[in-house]
Amino acid sequence: MSGTAKRTVTLTLDGSNKSSTLPLLDGTIGPPVADIRKIYGDLGIFTYDPGYGATAACDSKITYIDGDQGVLLYRGYPIEQLAEHSNFLEVAYLLLNGELPKPAELVEFQKGVTHHTMLHEQLRSFYNGFRRDAHPMAVMCGVVGALSAFYHDSLNIYDPDHRRISAFRLIAKVPTIAAWAHKYTVGQPFMYPRNDLGYAENFLYMFHGVPAEEYKVNPILARAMDLIMILHADHEQNASTSTVRLAGSTGANPFACIAAGIASLWGPAHGGANEAVLKMLAEIGHVKNIPAFLADVKDRNNHAKLMGFGHRVYKNYDPRAKIIQKACHDVLGELGIKDDPLLDLALELEKIALNDKYFVDRKLYPNVDFYSGIILKAMGFPTSMFTALFAVSRTVGWISQWAEMIEDPEQRIGRPRQIYTGPTQRDYIPPGQR
Ligand code: CMC
Repeated sequence: MSGTAKRTVTLTLDGSNKSSTLPLLDGTIGPPVADIRKIYGDLGIFTYDPGYGATAACDSKITYIDGDQGVLLYRGYPIEQLAEHSNFLEVAYLLLNGELPKPAELVEFQKGVTHHTMLHEQLRSFYNGFRRDAHPMAVMCGVVGALSAFYHDSLNIYDPDHRRISAFRLIAKVPTIAAWAHKYTVGQPFMYPRNDLGYAENFLYMFHGVPAEEYKVNPILARAMDLIMILHADHEQNASTSTVRLAGSTGANPFACIAAGIASLWGPAHGGANEAVLKMLAEIGHVKNIPAFLADVKDRNNHAKLMGFGHRVYKNYDPRAKIIQKACHDVLGELGIKDDPLLDLALELEKIALNDKYFVDRKLYPNVDFYSGIILKAMGFPTSMFTALFAVSRTVGWISQWAEMIEDPEQRIGRPRQIYTGPTQRDYIPPGQR
């Protein structure tokens, strides 16, 4: 990040005459950031921040979160406005290019994406290598990583055209890869993409359709899918995005980097939480069991968490959770599901937790994953697909962040330091003398 800092912060090393004056960098919004790059040279010390709770690893123009106010902006636009008025491909253009597209630009962009929706036929054989009960995220990690082997023509990360075509390929192909992971599990034929359908609509078609009969995508479900995709499209420097950036900082190709992001997303503390929420609700089973479950969660000897609650950045309601909770009611209503016991249980669980001192004191609120599983289940997705759907939507955020990093003149290999607490130097002991 260039520019002259207007303010500084000075650190003095106790017991010495050494001090370091660090520039305070300002973003367009958000707190100032101390530039600590010369701290080791000035003071001979490192900084310690496991989990990076107080560390900005890059500067970015893509997504902004105000965790205290519960605000999420993509390129400055509030998520609520995009959810109401935009669509996933328009949001994808915005994330990648920085501005909303003019109508002709959107048409060109849509063409660019749909041109790449098919997978190389050779990739089909990769699926046969998996067990039928393979988790879709395992398939996604493998098949997305394997794309690197198919597109040698676009692997020069320093060529903007190569970056653009790789982005198109990834955004276009991940829905096909995810839908086929499901088809492989259930033993149905792979459905080829249909480029006359919208992005979310085509995904639902490939996922639910079979060649034996015509499948008409329910427009209400297509809109709900599109909304879910918008809400998951980007979320600044979360674990999987940071993984993509770290992998990318070594010069690795974008397909490998996105595969790394998918692996990072899989964990239950991150994208795997949507699957974990439904498992948790099934385990709780009934409203009457909520108090006992929450007692378990609050017991510090336990590792149990209230899944779908809490966030590193949001100390307020996750704005995506608000939107998705409303969409949940709408979709269930449209599908004629009058009473969904899971939704009732989730609403009661949320109410009790939001009034419980443990959660209030720690500012733990529902996050996007608390309600997304309920809506996805109502739309006919098996639980194991939830995180794969998250990966499909987040691919555009990952590739936008990756491209921004490659274009950043200050970018260098990500290489954190450590506090070493192991043994000091010692001599090798021959086996018989240990
Ligand atoms: N249930 C119970 N206690 C919690 C929870 C929870 N869901 N989340 C945080 N806490 C407690 C935590 O134990 C700690 O307590 P104490 O101060 O007594 O030690 C306190 O709240 C602060 O939490 P933290 O562990 O410092 O928070 P973190 O920023 O390291 O972790 C998190 C954030 C999202 C990993 C965590 O809240 C969590 O595991 N939540 C459940 C999993 C989940 O829903 N993940 C989805 C996140 S949103 C979508 C995404 O990123 O993919």
